[in-house]
Amino acid sequence: MSSPDQWTIVGNSMALRHVLKQVEIVAPTDATVLLLGETGTGKELVARAIHDASGRSHRTFIKVNCAAIPSGLLESELFGHERGAFTSAIAQRIGRFELGDGGTLFLDEVGEIPLELQPKLLRVLQEHEFERVGGTRTINVDVRMIAATNRDLGGMVEERRFRDDLYYRLNVFPIALPPLRERPEDIDPLVDHFVCQFARSMNRHIDAIPGETREALRHHQWPGNVRELENVIQRAVILSPAGRLTLPPLRVEFPHRPAHNEGETLEGVKRAYVARVLEETRWVIGGPRGAAARLGLKRTTLQSMMKRFGLPLPSDGAKSAFDGYASRPRPEGLDDEKWAAG
Ligand SMILES: Nc1ncnc2c1ncn2[C@@H]1O[C@H](COP(=O)(O)OP(=O)(O)OP(=O)(O)O)[C@@H](O)[C@H]1O
Ligand SMILES: [Mg+2]
Repeated sequence: MSSPDQWTIVGNSMALRHVLKQVEIVAPTDATVLLLGETGTGKELVARAIHDASGRSHRTFIKVNCAAIPSGLLESELFGHERGAFTSAIAQRIGRFELGDGGTLFLDEVGEIPLELQPKLLRVLQEHEFERVGGTRTINVDVRMIAATNRDLGGMVEERRFRDDLYYRLNVFPIALPPLRERPEDIDPLVDHFVCQFARSMNRHIDAIPGETREALRHHQWPGNVRELENVIQRAVILSPAGRLTLPPLRVEFPHRPAHNEGETLEGVKRAYVARVLEETRWVIGGPRGAAARLGLKRTTLQSMMKRFGLPLPSDGAKSAFDGYASRPRPEGLDDEKWAAG
């Protein structure tokens, strides 16, 4: 479902205004843009804004989420394949680069691109050419690329998990999206925007947002950033038939073990690193993109490590591998309903 509201960028903080200024500068050029920022900060929204303000706005905007496509299929998804290229290739297929010719390609979660595919991506960025999988004919395309990631690509380069040449090629014009907790002035206007949007779409009348509700919203840390705020407001509108906005319980951060002074002991450093990888993999433990694989550990070893470090074990992380919100572990002390509500 798409409505004009859906792509409106709301907020007036200095940090957001700086981002919008950069969008304005880079949009009319054909430069590759790299959007960096935590989950839910608005990377996709900004990617669309760049496309809309560019000379390609009347052409297609194609989005590929590299984390959502199994790595073995990504090459064919991006570059297409010829009939018979592999066992299941029963017909020729046009890839996203060809479909996006003349337009913009938004490569989301670019840090997930397998190393072996990175040279082909670099070539299409530099030479604007590639071959379909199983094909010999060179295809030329004119695609403007916008990439996004919530990973530390520079760190991945140092660890040799991301090619440096591709990193430098993507990093021509980086734009960092600030987390919501660093621009609390944006919370009020965002709350008004989402209340209006959801009240309209659900046919509800919300005519009052109590002061203490606004206070609670302003003081929450919003680890899931604007997406989390949007979800909270949607639930609040559902829960508020009487005209006054009623908040569901706000999400609580997973408990820290206070006894540890992280960073000062080897255990502390290990715990912090494991927690960071878990955050980055959205608490998915198993599977080729899960935290265990990233850490080079067996799934069961990681689970017992998490227990030792007091990190909560997600009950259904594997099922909701790409849904950051749903796959976060439920903090102790919250029942399912409260957790689902906030
Ligand atoms: N400044 C904003 N004004 C209005 N809506 C916003 C703003 N920033 C983000 N949103 C909304 O928040 C949600 C998350 O934004 P978006 O999908 O662009 O984030 P993201 O950075 O791509 O997140 P992820 O890394 O998890 O993919 C979307 O519904 C988007 O419309
Ligand atoms: Mg996104």
